[in-house]
Amino acid sequence: MREYKIAVIPGDGIGNEVMDEGIKVLNLFAELKGDIKFTYEYFPWGCEYYLKTGKMMDDNGLDILKGFDSILLGAVGYPTVPDHISLHGLLIKIRQGFNQCVNLRPIKLLPGAPCPLKDKAPEDIDFVVIRENVEGEYSGVGGIRFADKPEEIAIQTSVFTRKNTEKVMKYAYDLAEKRNKKKKLTSTTKSNALNYSMVFWDKVFGEIGKQYPEVETESIHVDAISMFFIQKPQNYDVVVASNLFGDIITDLGAALQGGLGFAASGNLNIEKEFPSMFEPVHGSAPDIAGKGLANPIAMIWTAKMMLDDLLEDPKAEEIINAITDVLVEGKSLTPDLGGKATTQQVGDAICHKLKARLV
Ligand code: NAD
Ligand code: IPM
Ligand code: MN
Repeated sequence: MREYKIAVIPGDGIGNEVMDEGIKVLNLFAELKGDIKFTYEYFPWGCEYYLKTGKMMDDNGLDILKGFDSILLGAVGYPTVPDHISLHGLLIKIRQGFNQCVNLRPIKLLPGAPCPLKDKAPEDIDFVVIRENVEGEYSGVGGIRFADKPEEIAIQTSVFTRKNTEKVMKYAYDLAEKRNKKKKLTSTTKSNALNYSMVFWDKVFGEIGKQYPEVETESIHVDAISMFFIQKPQNYDVVVASNLFGDIITDLGAALQGGLGFAASGNLNIEKEFPSMFEPVHGSAPDIAGKGLANPIAMIWTAKMMLDDLLEDPKAEEIINAITDVLVEGKSLTPDLGGKATTQQVGDAICHKLKARLV
Protein backbone atom coordinates (compact mmCIF):
# COMPACT_ATOMS: atom_id res chain seq x y z
CA MET A 1 0.00 0.00 0.00
CA ARG A 2 1.54 3.30 -1.07
CA GLU A 3 0.43 6.26 1.02
CA TYR A 4 0.34 9.87 -0.20
CA LYS A 5 0.10 12.82 2.17
CA ILE A 6 -2.02 15.60 0.72
CA ALA A 7 -2.33 19.11 2.16
CA VAL A 8 -5.84 20.41 1.52
CA ILE A 9 -6.57 24.16 1.44
CA PRO A 10 -10.26 24.53 0.51
CA GLY A 11 -9.97 28.34 0.82
CA ASP A 12 -12.98 30.57 0.24
CA GLY A 13 -16.41 30.52 -1.36
CA ILE A 14 -17.04 27.69 -3.78
CA GLY A 15 -13.51 26.41 -3.07
CA ASN A 16 -15.00 24.61 -0.06
CA GLU A 17 -17.88 23.13 -2.01
CA VAL A 18 -15.92 21.81 -4.97
CA MET A 19 -13.08 20.49 -2.79
CA ASP A 20 -15.42 17.96 -1.14
CA GLU A 21 -16.23 16.50 -4.55
CA GLY A 22 -12.58 16.34 -5.62
CA ILE A 23 -11.69 14.44 -2.45
CA LYS A 24 -14.67 12.13 -2.89
CA VAL A 25 -13.41 11.12 -6.34
CA LEU A 26 -9.82 10.68 -5.11
CA ASN A 27 -10.99 8.43 -2.28
CA LEU A 28 -13.10 6.31 -4.61
CA PHE A 29 -10.21 6.00 -7.07
CA ALA A 30 -7.88 4.86 -4.26
CA GLU A 31 -10.46 2.39 -2.94
CA LEU A 32 -11.06 0.86 -6.37
CA LYS A 33 -7.36 0.68 -7.15
CA GLY A 34 -6.70 -1.00 -3.83
CA ASP A 35 -2.95 -0.39 -3.49
CA ILE A 36 -2.84 3.34 -2.72
CA LYS A 37 -4.12 5.49 0.10
CA PHE A 38 -4.46 9.24 0.50
CA THR A 39 -4.21 10.90 3.89
CA TYR A 40 -5.35 14.48 4.08
CA GLU A 41 -4.54 17.31 6.39
CA TYR A 42 -6.88 20.29 6.10
CA PHE A 43 -5.68 23.88 6.54
CA PRO A 44 -8.26 26.60 7.29
CA TRP A 45 -6.20 29.28 5.50
CA GLY A 46 -8.06 31.86 3.47
CA CYS A 47 -10.00 35.09 3.89
CA GLU A 48 -12.03 34.01 6.94
CA TYR A 49 -8.75 33.09 8.63
CA TYR A 50 -7.39 36.50 7.64
CA LEU A 51 -10.37 38.33 9.11
CA LYS A 52 -9.81 36.47 12.41
CA THR A 53 -5.99 36.49 12.58
CA GLY A 54 -4.74 39.17 10.19
CA LYS A 55 -2.91 36.46 8.22
CA MET A 56 -3.88 34.49 5.14
CA MET A 57 -1.75 31.56 6.28
CA ASP A 58 0.48 30.80 9.26
CA ASP A 59 3.94 32.40 9.25
CA ASN A 60 5.53 28.94 9.03
CA GLY A 61 2.95 27.82 6.44
CA LEU A 62 5.51 26.99 3.76
CA ASP A 63 7.56 24.95 6.25
CA ILE A 64 4.46 22.98 7.18
CA LEU A 65 3.46 22.38 3.55
CA LYS A 66 6.98 21.26 2.61
CA GLY A 67 6.40 17.87 4.19
CA PHE A 68 3.47 16.90 1.93
CA ASP A 69 3.51 14.95 -1.32
CA SER A 70 1.11 17.38 -2.93
CA ILE A 71 -1.21 20.32 -2.23
CA LEU A 72 -4.82 20.71 -3.33
CA LEU A 73 -6.30 24.20 -3.26
CA GLY A 74 -9.93 25.21 -3.86
CA ALA A 75 -10.06 28.98 -4.43
CA VAL A 76 -9.08 32.15 -2.62
CA GLY A 77 -10.85 35.51 -2.47
CA TYR A 78 -13.61 37.19 -0.50
CA PRO A 79 -15.35 40.50 -1.24
CA THR A 80 -14.32 42.22 2.03
CA VAL A 81 -10.61 41.35 1.76
CA PRO A 82 -8.65 43.17 -0.97
CA ASP A 83 -7.66 40.65 -3.64
CA HIS A 84 -4.00 41.66 -3.72
CA ILE A 85 -3.78 40.86 0.00
CA SER A 86 -5.58 37.53 -0.16
CA LEU A 87 -3.81 36.27 -3.26
CA HIS A 88 -0.30 37.47 -2.45
CA GLY A 89 -0.72 36.15 1.11
CA LEU A 90 -1.58 32.59 0.11
CA LEU A 91 -1.85 31.42 -3.49
CA ILE A 92 0.99 33.43 -5.03
CA LYS A 93 3.09 32.92 -1.90
CA ILE A 94 2.91 29.15 -2.35
CA ARG A 95 3.47 29.26 -6.14
CA GLN A 96 6.55 31.46 -5.74
CA GLY A 97 7.77 30.05 -2.40
CA PHE A 98 7.80 26.51 -3.80
CA ASN A 99 9.17 27.60 -7.16
CA GLN A 100 6.18 26.15 -9.00
CA CYS A 101 7.46 27.67 -12.21
CA VAL A 102 5.18 25.82 -14.63
CA ASN A 103 1.43 26.22 -14.59
CA LEU A 104 -0.05 23.46 -16.70
CA ARG A 105 -3.56 24.29 -18.00
CA PRO A 106 -5.27 21.84 -20.36
CA ILE A 107 -7.92 23.25 -22.71
CA LYS A 108 -9.93 20.29 -23.87
CA LEU A 109 -13.54 20.16 -24.98
CA LEU A 110 -15.15 16.99 -23.66
CA PRO A 111 -18.00 15.32 -25.53
CA GLY A 112 -21.26 16.68 -24.12
CA ALA A 113 -19.70 19.94 -22.84
CA PRO A 114 -21.24 23.13 -24.23
CA CYS A 115 -18.83 24.81 -26.63
CA PRO A 116 -19.80 28.41 -27.45
CA LEU A 117 -18.34 28.06 -30.96
CA LYS A 118 -20.66 26.71 -33.61
CA ASP A 119 -19.20 23.94 -35.74
CA LYS A 120 -16.46 23.02 -33.26
CA ALA A 121 -16.21 19.47 -31.96
CA PRO A 122 -14.02 17.90 -29.25
CA GLU A 123 -11.31 17.04 -31.81
CA ASP A 124 -10.97 20.76 -32.62
CA ILE A 125 -10.28 21.91 -29.08
CA ASP A 126 -7.50 19.98 -27.41
CA PHE A 127 -4.41 21.90 -26.41
CA VAL A 128 -2.36 22.75 -23.34
CA VAL A 129 -1.21 26.14 -22.11
CA ILE A 130 2.10 26.28 -20.26
CA ARG A 131 2.00 29.43 -18.20
CA GLU A 132 5.17 30.81 -16.62
CA ASN A 133 4.11 30.90 -13.00
CA VAL A 134 6.58 32.56 -10.64
CA GLU A 135 7.90 35.75 -12.21
CA GLY A 136 7.18 37.97 -15.22
CA GLU A 137 4.38 40.45 -14.59
CA TYR A 138 3.66 38.84 -11.17
CA SER A 139 7.13 39.45 -9.72
CA GLY A 140 5.79 41.97 -7.22
CA VAL A 141 8.49 44.51 -8.04
CA GLY A 142 7.43 48.14 -8.02
CA GLY A 143 5.84 50.70 -5.80
CA ILE A 144 3.77 53.82 -5.46
CA ARG A 145 5.42 57.25 -5.37
CA PHE A 146 3.74 60.47 -4.27
CA ALA A 147 0.71 58.57 -2.93
CA ASP A 148 -2.58 60.47 -3.22
CA LYS A 149 -0.84 63.49 -4.74
CA PRO A 150 -1.65 64.78 -8.22
CA GLU A 151 1.79 63.52 -9.36
CA GLU A 152 1.19 59.99 -8.04
CA ILE A 153 3.00 57.23 -9.98
CA ALA A 154 2.40 53.45 -9.82
CA ILE A 155 5.22 51.24 -11.06
CA GLN A 156 4.85 47.48 -11.66
CA THR A 157 7.98 45.93 -13.12
CA SER A 158 8.10 42.59 -14.94
CA VAL A 159 11.11 40.41 -14.24
CA PHE A 160 12.16 37.64 -16.61
CA THR A 161 15.28 35.68 -15.64
CA ARG A 162 17.17 33.61 -18.19
CA LYS A 163 17.31 30.61 -15.85
CA ASN A 164 13.57 30.45 -15.28
CA THR A 165 12.53 31.41 -18.82
CA GLU A 166 14.75 28.67 -20.28
CA LYS A 167 13.34 26.12 -17.83
CA VAL A 168 9.73 26.93 -18.71
CA MET A 169 10.48 26.95 -22.46
CA LYS A 170 12.21 23.57 -22.20
CA TYR A 171 9.22 22.13 -20.36
CA ALA A 172 6.92 23.43 -23.11
CA TYR A 173 9.13 22.06 -25.92
CA ASP A 174 9.39 18.68 -24.18
CA LEU A 175 5.62 18.53 -23.88
CA ALA A 176 5.14 19.50 -27.54
CA GLU A 177 7.56 16.75 -28.50
CA LYS A 178 5.92 14.03 -26.43
CA ARG A 179 2.23 14.99 -26.70
CA ASN A 180 2.22 13.29 -30.01
CA LYS A 181 -0.42 15.43 -31.58
CA LYS A 182 0.98 18.03 -33.96
CA LYS A 183 4.41 18.48 -32.29
CA LYS A 184 3.79 22.19 -32.40
CA LEU A 185 4.66 24.88 -29.88
CA THR A 186 3.12 28.34 -30.09
CA SER A 187 4.71 31.17 -28.12
CA THR A 188 2.49 34.01 -26.94
CA THR A 189 4.34 37.28 -27.32
CA LYS A 190 3.90 41.04 -27.39
CA SER A 191 7.38 42.04 -28.48
CA ASN A 192 5.97 44.75 -30.73
CA ALA A 193 5.18 46.82 -27.62
CA LEU A 194 7.10 45.24 -24.73
CA ASN A 195 10.55 45.95 -26.10
CA TYR A 196 12.62 44.38 -23.30
CA SER A 197 10.70 41.56 -21.64
CA MET A 198 9.03 40.07 -24.70
CA VAL A 199 12.00 40.61 -27.00
CA PHE A 200 13.99 38.56 -24.45
CA TRP A 201 11.17 35.99 -24.32
CA ASP A 202 11.24 35.61 -28.12
CA LYS A 203 15.03 35.23 -28.08
CA VAL A 204 14.95 32.41 -25.51
CA PHE A 205 12.07 30.74 -27.38
CA GLY A 206 14.24 30.68 -30.52
CA GLU A 207 17.41 29.57 -28.73
CA ILE A 208 15.79 26.62 -26.94
CA GLY A 209 13.94 25.68 -30.13
CA LYS A 210 17.27 24.76 -31.74
CA GLN A 211 17.40 21.74 -29.41
CA TYR A 212 14.02 20.54 -30.71
CA PRO A 213 14.28 20.33 -34.50
CA GLU A 214 11.15 18.14 -34.70
CA VAL A 215 8.91 20.69 -33.02
CA GLU A 216 7.21 23.17 -35.33
CA THR A 217 7.20 26.65 -33.80
CA GLU A 218 5.26 29.84 -34.20
CA SER A 219 5.10 33.09 -32.29
CA ILE A 220 1.84 35.02 -32.06
CA HIS A 221 1.06 38.31 -30.33
CA VAL A 222 -1.27 37.90 -27.37
CA ASP A 223 -3.95 40.12 -28.89
CA ALA A 224 -3.96 38.10 -32.10
CA ILE A 225 -3.93 34.74 -30.31
CA SER A 226 -7.03 35.81 -28.38
CA MET A 227 -8.78 36.10 -31.73
CA PHE A 228 -7.31 32.89 -33.16
CA PHE A 229 -8.37 30.86 -30.09
CA ILE A 230 -11.93 31.65 -31.18
CA GLN A 231 -11.47 31.42 -34.94
CA LYS A 232 -9.21 28.37 -35.25
CA PRO A 233 -8.63 26.62 -31.93
CA GLN A 234 -7.72 23.47 -33.87
CA ASN A 235 -4.38 25.12 -34.75
CA TYR A 236 -3.02 24.78 -31.23
CA ASP A 237 -1.22 21.93 -29.54
CA VAL A 238 1.05 23.41 -26.84
CA VAL A 239 1.02 27.15 -26.12
CA VAL A 240 3.61 28.82 -23.89
CA ALA A 241 2.88 32.19 -22.30
CA SER A 242 4.15 34.57 -19.64
CA ASN A 243 2.42 34.74 -16.28
CA LEU A 244 -0.13 37.47 -17.04
CA PHE A 245 -0.77 36.53 -20.66
CA GLY A 246 -1.15 32.89 -19.58
CA ASP A 247 -3.67 33.92 -16.96
CA ILE A 248 -5.79 35.84 -19.44
CA ILE A 249 -5.73 33.37 -22.33
CA THR A 250 -6.62 30.46 -20.05
CA ASP A 251 -9.92 32.03 -19.01
CA LEU A 252 -10.56 32.40 -22.73
CA GLY A 253 -9.53 28.77 -23.15
CA ALA A 254 -11.91 27.84 -20.33
CA ALA A 255 -14.76 29.41 -22.30
CA LEU A 256 -13.85 27.21 -25.30
CA GLN A 257 -14.17 24.07 -23.20
CA GLY A 258 -17.55 25.01 -21.72
CA GLY A 259 -16.72 27.54 -19.01
CA LEU A 260 -14.65 27.96 -15.87
CA GLY A 261 -16.41 24.93 -14.42
CA PHE A 262 -14.15 22.78 -16.64
CA ALA A 263 -10.76 24.46 -16.30
CA ALA A 264 -8.16 22.54 -14.28
CA SER A 265 -4.58 23.38 -13.48
CA GLY A 266 -1.38 22.23 -11.85
CA ASN A 267 1.36 24.46 -10.44
CA LEU A 268 4.44 22.31 -10.87
CA ASN A 269 7.73 22.38 -9.04
CA ILE A 270 9.48 20.50 -11.77
CA GLU A 271 12.62 19.79 -9.74
CA LYS A 272 10.42 17.94 -7.19
CA GLU A 273 12.26 19.81 -4.47
CA PHE A 274 8.94 21.10 -3.08
CA PRO A 275 5.37 19.86 -3.43
CA SER A 276 3.38 20.90 -6.49
CA MET A 277 -0.06 22.46 -6.03
CA PHE A 278 -3.21 21.64 -7.94
CA GLU A 279 -6.14 24.06 -8.19
CA PRO A 280 -8.99 24.80 -10.54
CA VAL A 281 -8.54 27.91 -12.71
CA HIS A 282 -11.71 29.51 -11.35
CA GLY A 283 -11.95 31.72 -8.29
CA SER A 284 -14.17 31.67 -5.21
CA ALA A 285 -17.21 32.85 -7.23
CA PRO A 286 -18.90 34.89 -4.46
CA ASP A 287 -21.94 35.34 -6.73
CA ILE A 288 -22.88 31.66 -6.39
CA ALA A 289 -21.04 30.58 -3.21
CA GLY A 290 -22.80 28.59 -0.50
CA LYS A 291 -25.74 27.55 -2.66
CA GLY A 292 -24.59 24.23 -4.11
CA LEU A 293 -24.53 25.77 -7.60
CA ALA A 294 -20.82 25.41 -8.38
CA ASN A 295 -19.73 23.01 -11.08
CA PRO A 296 -17.25 20.60 -9.44
CA ILE A 297 -15.83 19.25 -12.73
CA ALA A 298 -12.85 21.65 -12.78
CA MET A 299 -11.89 20.52 -9.26
CA ILE A 300 -12.33 16.83 -10.09
CA TRP A 301 -10.26 17.24 -13.25
CA THR A 302 -7.65 19.06 -11.12
CA ALA A 303 -7.56 16.12 -8.69
CA LYS A 304 -6.97 13.87 -11.72
CA MET A 305 -4.01 16.06 -12.70
CA MET A 306 -2.62 15.55 -9.22
CA LEU A 307 -2.98 11.78 -9.68
CA ASP A 308 -1.07 12.01 -12.98
CA ASP A 309 1.71 13.85 -11.21
CA LEU A 310 1.91 11.41 -8.30
CA LEU A 311 1.19 8.04 -9.92
CA GLU A 312 1.40 8.20 -13.70
CA ASP A 313 -1.36 5.56 -13.78
CA PRO A 314 -3.27 5.36 -17.08
CA LYS A 315 -6.35 4.27 -15.07
CA ALA A 316 -6.71 7.88 -13.88
CA GLU A 317 -7.97 8.69 -17.39
CA GLU A 318 -11.17 6.90 -16.36
CA ILE A 319 -11.96 9.96 -14.22
CA ILE A 320 -12.15 12.08 -17.38
CA ASN A 321 -14.18 9.34 -19.05
CA ALA A 322 -16.57 9.28 -16.08
CA ILE A 323 -16.99 13.07 -16.35
CA THR A 324 -17.74 12.61 -20.07
CA ASP A 325 -20.32 9.90 -19.26
CA VAL A 326 -22.14 12.35 -16.98
CA LEU A 327 -22.00 15.15 -19.56
CA VAL A 328 -23.25 12.98 -22.39
CA GLU A 329 -26.06 11.55 -20.25
CA GLY A 330 -27.00 15.14 -19.40
CA LYS A 331 -29.05 14.29 -16.29
CA SER A 332 -26.74 15.56 -13.54
CA LEU A 333 -25.53 19.00 -14.56
CA THR A 334 -25.10 22.20 -12.56
CA PRO A 335 -26.93 25.41 -13.63
CA ASP A 336 -23.92 26.81 -15.55
CA LEU A 337 -24.52 23.89 -17.94
CA GLY A 338 -28.27 24.38 -18.01
CA GLY A 339 -29.03 21.70 -15.39
CA LYS A 340 -30.60 21.64 -11.95
CA ALA A 341 -28.22 19.33 -10.10
CA THR A 342 -26.25 20.46 -7.06
CA THR A 343 -22.46 20.41 -6.75
CA GLN A 344 -22.75 17.30 -4.60
CA GLN A 345 -25.10 15.50 -6.99
CA VAL A 346 -22.68 16.02 -9.87
CA GLY A 347 -19.83 14.66 -7.73
CA ASP A 348 -21.96 11.62 -6.84
CA ALA A 349 -22.89 11.03 -10.49
CA ILE A 350 -19.22 11.12 -11.55
CA CYS A 351 -18.36 8.64 -8.75
CA HIS A 352 -21.13 6.37 -9.91
CA LYS A 353 -19.78 6.35 -13.48
CA LEU A 354 -16.21 5.91 -12.25
CA LYS A 355 -17.21 2.88 -10.23
CA ALA A 356 -18.90 1.33 -13.25
CA ARG A 357 -15.72 1.86 -15.27
CA LEU A 358 -13.19 0.64 -12.73
CA VAL A 359 -14.90 -2.30 -11.04
P1 NAD B 1 -14.43 33.57 -10.56
O1 NAD B 1 -13.71 32.52 -11.31
O2 NAD B 1 -14.58 33.35 -9.12
O3 NAD B 1 -15.88 33.77 -11.20
C1 NAD B 1 -16.13 34.24 -12.54
C2 NAD B 1 -17.53 33.78 -12.98
O4 NAD B 1 -17.52 32.39 -13.28
C3 NAD B 1 -18.61 33.99 -11.92
O5 NAD B 1 -19.81 34.37 -12.51
C4 NAD B 1 -18.74 32.60 -11.28
O6 NAD B 1 -20.01 32.34 -10.74
C5 NAD B 1 -18.44 31.69 -12.48
N1 NAD B 1 -17.81 30.42 -12.02
C6 NAD B 1 -16.53 30.27 -11.61
N2 NAD B 1 -16.30 29.00 -11.24
C7 NAD B 1 -17.46 28.33 -11.43
C8 NAD B 1 -17.85 26.98 -11.23
N3 NAD B 1 -17.01 26.04 -10.76
N4 NAD B 1 -19.14 26.65 -11.51
C9 NAD B 1 -19.99 27.56 -11.97
N5 NAD B 1 -19.69 28.85 -12.21
C10 NAD B 1 -18.42 29.23 -11.94
O7 NAD B 1 -13.67 34.95 -10.86
P2 NAD B 1 -13.87 36.41 -10.23
O8 NAD B 1 -15.33 36.68 -10.05
O9 NAD B 1 -13.06 37.28 -11.07
O10 NAD B 1 -13.17 36.35 -8.83
C11 NAD B 1 -13.83 36.08 -7.58
C12 NAD B 1 -12.78 35.99 -6.50
O11 NAD B 1 -11.94 34.86 -6.71
C13 NAD B 1 -11.83 37.20 -6.43
O12 NAD B 1 -11.54 37.42 -5.09
C14 NAD B 1 -10.62 36.73 -7.20
O13 NAD B 1 -9.44 37.40 -6.86
C15 NAD B 1 -10.57 35.28 -6.79
N6 NAD B 1 -9.89 34.37 -7.72
C16 NAD B 1 -9.18 33.36 -7.15
C17 NAD B 1 -8.60 32.40 -7.94
C18 NAD B 1 -7.88 31.27 -7.28
O14 NAD B 1 -7.94 31.12 -6.08
N7 NAD B 1 -7.19 30.43 -8.00
C19 NAD B 1 -8.77 32.44 -9.34
C20 NAD B 1 -9.51 33.49 -9.89
C21 NAD B 1 -10.08 34.45 -9.07
C1 IPM C 1 -5.58 32.20 -11.64
C2 IPM C 1 -6.02 33.44 -10.90
C3 IPM C 1 -4.87 34.05 -10.14
C4 IPM C 1 -3.78 34.43 -11.11
C5 IPM C 1 -5.25 35.29 -9.32
C6 IPM C 1 -6.40 35.01 -8.43
C7 IPM C 1 -4.08 35.86 -8.57
O1 IPM C 1 -6.64 34.34 -11.75
O2 IPM C 1 -5.01 31.29 -11.02
O3 IPM C 1 -5.83 32.11 -12.85
O4 IPM C 1 -3.84 35.50 -11.74
O5 IPM C 1 -2.84 33.65 -11.25
MN1 MN D 1 -6.98 33.58 -13.72
